[in-house]
Amino acid sequence: MSITPFGGRPGFSGDHELRRKVTTASLRELKLRHEPITCLTAYDYSTARLVDEAGIEMILVGDSLAQTVLGYDNTLSVTMDEMLHHVKAVRRGVKNALLLADMPYGSYHLDAQSALGNATRFVKEGGAEVVKIEGGEKRADLIRRIIDAEIPVAGHIGLTPQSVNVMGGYKVQGKNLGDIEQLMRDAVALDRAGVACIVLEGIPREVAAMITAEVATPTIGIGAGPECDGQVLVFHDILNLTFSPPAKFVRRYGDAAALIGHAVRAFRADVKSQQYPSDEESYHLPKETKAGLDTVLARKRAMQR
Ligand code: KIV
Repeated sequence: MSITPFGGRPGFSGDHELRRKVTTASLRELKLRHEPITCLTAYDYSTARLVDEAGIEMILVGDSLAQTVLGYDNTLSVTMDEMLHHVKAVRRGVKNALLLADMPYGSYHLDAQSALGNATRFVKEGGAEVVKIEGGEKRADLIRRIIDAEIPVAGHIGLTPQSVNVMGGYKVQGKNLGDIEQLMRDAVALDRAGVACIVLEGIPREVAAMITAEVATPTIGIGAGPECDGQVLVFHDILNLTFSPPAKFVRRYGDAAALIGHAVRAFRADVKSQQYPSDEESYHLPKETKAGLDTVLARKRAMQR
C-alpha cells in the first residue's frame, strides 16, 4: 500500500493514518507526475476533518466564508478576525492536507507592513501553512516580501471576487487577446515570485491550459477547465448548501440541504407528537435512589392530605 499523500484509497481511514503530510513541495511533485491535485474549502472543525480524512490534498479557508457561513452578500465584508477564527477551527481538524488561509479584502491592500502582519497572524495564531492573495503582476513585489518572511503564498488570478466592483460583476475573464496577454503576464510574475500554486478562476479553458503549460507552478482551477494541474471547489457548492443556483462549473456531489431539511423536520415532528425522547433515550435514577425518592414523595402526599 502506498504511503505517499497521493496513493491509496481516499476515504479509507486506515490510509488516512498512513498518508504523508502534504507540503508545498508535494504540489510540485504532483504537477511533475501529472497527477491532478484536489482542493476544497472548509470553514469549521468537523468539515475539515471529513475533507482531510477523504484524502483531499489542499484545504482552503476561503474568504467565501463571507457568503457560505456568515451570510454576507460578497467577500468584501469579511474581516481578518472572522477569517482567523475559522482558520483556527479548521486547523484543529486537519492532519494531512496542506492548509491555506485566504487573505481577506483590506488585509493586504494598505501597505506591505500590515500585509506581512496579517499573513504572520494566519501562520502564528491560525496554524495556516500558505496564505492566498488575489492579483497577479501588481502583487508580485508584496508576495516576494511575504515569501521572504518564510510564508508560502498562493496566487489567485482571473475572476478575483475581491475585485467585483472593478470588474463590474462576477464575469469570466480573459476573453480577448489583450486580457489573455495580461493573464499570462500575471501568471509568469507569480511563477517568478515563487508562489506555491496559482488559483485560476473563471477563465476560458484554452487560456488556463496555456498558463498551466507555461508555468512550473501548479495551477488550481475553478471554472477554468480540465487542463489545470488541480481543481478547487467550494464545499457548500458541491453539497447544495448555497441557497442559489450553482455556477456553470459547479458539480453537485450531494444534497445536504435536503438531508438537513429532512432530519430537522423529522425531529420537529417527533417532539410535537411526543415520540421523542423515548424511555430508552432518557437517563434513570439508580434503583435505591428511586425507592428513596418514592418514599419521600409518598410521605409528602400523606402530609398534604
Ligand atoms: O474563497 C474561496 O473559496 C476561493 C476559492 C473559490 C478559490 O478563493
